[in-house]
Amino acid sequence: MDKFVIAGNGPLRGVIDASGAKNAALPILCAALLSDEPLHVTNVPQLWDVNTTRKLLLQMGCAVDEPAAHEMVIDARPITTCVAPYELVRTMRASILVLGPLVAARGEAHVSLPGGCAIGARPVDLHLMGLEAMGAEITLEGGFVHAKAPKGGRLKGARIVFDTVTVTGTENLMMAATLADGETVLENAAREPEVVDLARCLRAMGARIEGDGTTTIRVQGVAKLHAAKHSVLPDRIETGSYLVAGAATRGCVRVNRTDPTMLDAVLVKLQQAGGKISTGPDFIEVDMQGKRPLAVNIHTMPHPGFPTDMQAQMMALNCLADGVGVIKETIFENRFMHAQELQRLGADIRIEGNTAVITGKDRLQSAPIMATDLRASASLVIAALAAEGETFIDRIYHMDRGYEDIEGKFSALGAKIKRVNKLI
Ligand code: UD1
Repeated sequence: MDKFVIAGNGPLRGVIDASGAKNAALPILCAALLSDEPLHVTNVPQLWDVNTTRKLLLQMGCAVDEPAAHEMVIDARPITTCVAPYELVRTMRASILVLGPLVAARGEAHVSLPGGCAIGARPVDLHLMGLEAMGAEITLEGGFVHAKAPKGGRLKGARIVFDTVTVTGTENLMMAATLADGETVLENAAREPEVVDLARCLRAMGARIEGDGTTTIRVQGVAKLHAAKHSVLPDRIETGSYLVAGAATRGCVRVNRTDPTMLDAVLVKLQQAGGKISTGPDFIEVDMQGKRPLAVNIHTMPHPGFPTDMQAQMMALNCLADGVGVIKETIFENRFMHAQELQRLGADIRIEGNTAVITGKDRLQSAPIMATDLRASASLVIAALAAEGETFIDRIYHMDRGYEDIEGKFSALGAKIKRVNKLI
């Protein structure tokens, strides 16, 4: 199994480009299932989760072509089966995103239940509730969700109120609604930029959607969707992770080909941490001017609040900051597993329920540590970059799921990071 060996060697400095957003690419690739004509997606990040989605579409019978790096053309016309098998779903919970498109466009879907996951229960009840409200018949059997469209094969428009903000739930039902009879209204919808990007792609395919980016999304169903080309928006979490790495190491990092308007809540915290922030239409730079970061308090919230996917990285920064920082995780239960690994590097973290109290240390020390989930692994890399000595990070496949060219980008910022495959 691959590991990273990271030598803490001072401030990160330099410029990198953001990749396309994983959390936008996954639903957009699944949206291809809504049409019998090809969907050409560009700025697709090269990641494990994208590859898993590709495999999922291929095993259903879709034609998937990669005309160039970071491009995919998906043609769902030759589809032969509406099944998402356990072997693929268990490696990527976002596989549930095929459910809405399949039942809307093909009249049926058989999707393995994702099961437990490292960052909590993460149920899909709201996805199922919404499809039922649209007339789908849902049964759970043999570890699978079986969904069937009503007689006539088409879902019906409905008013759906989410009692919790769910990103993939909003995406699944927005996709399903594009081909339903009549109007669907999604209330308390997720406002994440990735939901907006998916809506843009669906509109390019002929869907009639309004209100994306607000809490009320209205979709007028159409008879069919057509061929389209769409470029995936930049990855705000990847962008934020490199900026926090720059801040934690007292450096100066600029990320190009990104969008500062998606990262307001994170930039406010980096500024409070003492970073000098400069932005332009497509870049963000954080410059610590050699200073140690100041501790910051974080409360995770749905967008436009502080993203849970940046919580672990900010915890790493707080471990190195001047002062005491309090982090409250309100989106997921059990999302502090990185804390135990950070403690192995000498961090002072006290956990009480969904709150972590972190007292910053001037330095951390290297130790063998282990990644537990995707964003946790980014926090461990950040801490290792600022630790004294050489840190081995095990199970970095978690990071490969969501960060493109990790070694290349960190090396461009001056980090000493190496991938090794050996037993230690
Ligand atoms: C998405 C993101 C993930 C991010 C998360 C929150 C993708 C592929 N993944 O995950 O990176 O961390 O949003 O920003 O976009 N919930 C229910 N019932 C449901 C659905 C969700 O109770 O049917 C709960 C979850 O347990 C969680 C909360 O709602 O507590 C938010 O989860 P949700 O927004 O659905 O997360 P994902 O869409 O899985």
